[in-house]
Amino acid sequence: MKILVTGGLGFIGSHTVVELQNEGFDVVVVDNLSNSSINVLDGIEAITKKRPFFEEFDLREKPKVEAFFRKHQDIAGVIHFAASKAVGESVEAPLLYYENNLGVLVYILQELKKKGSSNFIFSSSCTVYGQADKMPITESAPIKPAESPYGNTKQVGEEIIRDTCRVNQGIHAIALRYFNPIGAHPSGKIGELPMGVPQNLVPFITQTGIGLREQLSVFGDDYPTEDGTCIRDYIHVVDLAKAHVRALQRLLEGKNESNYEVFNLGTGKGSSVLEVIQSFERVSGKKLNYKIVDRRPGDVVQAYADTTKANKVLGWKAKSTLDDAMRSAWEWEKIIRKS
Ligand code: UD1
Repeated sequence: MKILVTGGLGFIGSHTVVELQNEGFDVVVVDNLSNSSINVLDGIEAITKKRPFFEEFDLREKPKVEAFFRKHQDIAGVIHFAASKAVGESVEAPLLYYENNLGVLVYILQELKKKGSSNFIFSSSCTVYGQADKMPITESAPIKPAESPYGNTKQVGEEIIRDTCRVNQGIHAIALRYFNPIGAHPSGKIGELPMGVPQNLVPFITQTGIGLREQLSVFGDDYPTEDGTCIRDYIHVVDLAKAHVRALQRLLEGKNESNYEVFNLGTGKGSSVLEVIQSFERVSGKKLNYKIVDRRPGDVVQAYADTTKANKVLGWKAKSTLDDAMRSAWEWEKIIRKS
């Protein structure tokens, strides 16, 4: 069965391509390499002994999207990762984010509508909940006003899919709300490749550990949490990738209860920034140089998932611990700095 993975050379995309190929799917990757490297294809091939079919183009070019779907009429499902994801950048360049994250989504849905019957998985984010009132966060928690254009694209993206599914019963869609994906493939062949200075905690930690950055800034230790630092739900990217395959299989087997469903993907366990640092120190045997600085605007105090729905309905559960994920992130950091 042929599956289109947009953004399939990115961090979560590449790990998902591996899991899809491991399950016997034929994968076509579309990626514009704006935040990824062509070498990721070699990494995927080294792990799965199979090279995904690859087309390099920008999905904002609508005629190319149309031509792609004309050429690949046998596509059985689409997993849509291709999007921009830097919160700060989205504040500076909102139109880029709306075009990339929403314009492209519309183009793809228009093609799926033409097909009559189709299956679609969307990369959403726990950012849609903002600061939820109750922990852990269930899928029925209210959607709070977005803190950034990036967050807004995930909220509006979900609405676009929901509204489209309502009037196009042939489109079957699942939105997956990721908590904080970290780590790398245990083979050491693929992992996160942040461009420039990493904005996310774990790549910043591993880059500091390896000496590429001098010091980690911990954004605030006066939050109402046990140690005063923010709490997040860090999920191993391989666990996350496997959930995509489960969600796709659910649609392909017609097991979905409605043609638009939403699932949280996390571990269910919250960890503070200081606990993440301690995890790094445990698995690397190194002391991390860090200092406490002011809070980062827009950060929520805590966010961790209630994963009951994904556990029961998708039959999926995150297996890796924070230390497992951190160990893989650290191994990956050492590998990429050597090469
Ligand atoms: C961030 C985005 C979120 C997005 C996700 C995508 C914000 C407010 N949220 O999630 O919308 O979906 O990235 O990857 O930007 N931290 C430090 N020092 C650092 C970096 C982070 O102390 O140098 C802390 C943060 O304050 C936070 C935690 O580490 O408490 C995790 O931060 P990060 O990895 O950026 O993820 P989120 O903010 O949860």
